[in-house]
Amino acid sequence: MNKSDAVEWILRDRPRTPGRTGKAFAPANIALCKYWGKRDTELNLPVTSSLSISLGQLGASTSITPTDSTTDEIWLNGTRQTADLPFAKRLSAYLDLFRPTDTAFEVRTESTVPVAAGLASSASGFAALALALNESFGWELEPRELSILARLGSGSACRSIHQGFVQWHAGSRRDGMDSFAGRLDIEWPELQLGVLTVSHAEKPVSSREAMERTVKTSALYAVWPDKVSDDLVELHCALREKDFERLGRTAESNAMSMHATMMGAWPPVCYWQPETLATLNAVWTARAEGLPIYVTMDAGPNIKCLFLEADREVVMARFPNLEVVNRYEKGLA
Ligand code: PMV
Repeated sequence: MNKSDAVEWILRDRPRTPGRTGKAFAPANIALCKYWGKRDTELNLPVTSSLSISLGQLGASTSITPTDSTTDEIWLNGTRQTADLPFAKRLSAYLDLFRPTDTAFEVRTESTVPVAAGLASSASGFAALALALNESFGWELEPRELSILARLGSGSACRSIHQGFVQWHAGSRRDGMDSFAGRLDIEWPELQLGVLTVSHAEKPVSSREAMERTVKTSALYAVWPDKVSDDLVELHCALREKDFERLGRTAESNAMSMHATMMGAWPPVCYWQPETLATLNAVWTARAEGLPIYVTMDAGPNIKCLFLEADREVVMARFPNLEVVNRYEKGLA
């Protein structure tokens, strides 16, 4: 099955011509238990389930309007993206999955994720686009179907359909119809998340390439699925019991293990910069001195910190560059 087949199945009884401008917002998300490795690279089907926190009003606002032009007109933060740019190429290729003949689109995306924060934007971007398409075409799809459509753009985008704590169920079907994300019925406003940006440099290796290389060549990948199963059980307990120490320890250990699997690949993939290790050491020292703070990291050199509201002042005094995310502020389309 390819992406078009999956789209055909989901839209089998839905309108296929866009009617009006569709607008939507979707938050960025950060995984506490990571998605690392695909069982199907075409459909972005993961080897394991994963669990994330959505970032409130940090994300993407997207509007899409059908036009009778011959080419898509794509804007990002007020700047026109020419067709040769990777962002425009990836977006137009995704739109091809839904495009009736003789239709182009004008897409305008405003990202509220500060560029400096070093947060991935593809997750919120594809989730916002799937939601905006739903409105433009009048599909009235369920969140589960929207999550599947977002996944076809970028794996982790399937989690950005929801706010709060979100689990992406890996599923086992070859067509991926059971691989989607759902919101967990948990609120934990005291849990805080902040970003320590150590570098703005472009990723040397894309997460797609890094995942493929890890799955194919890293001996350490063999233990990753068991590690994820254990960590998901731990995270669910921690979330249910609001056990911050357990949550932080599990999220940090999961992120470090993911990086270990990719360092074990050949050629090795290492996203860490010298400043990454220096910052990790600063966090570990603070923790050894009694400050309850934990880290997680994605496919890049930057560090995301987990801590409790009660410790915010002490954490900020220790890490003045920390950008704290307000997870409960909703973004506008
Ligand atoms: O969705 P992608 O292809 O950008 O992959 C995301 C991978 C990680 O951010 C490293 C982990 C995750 O679960 O978000």
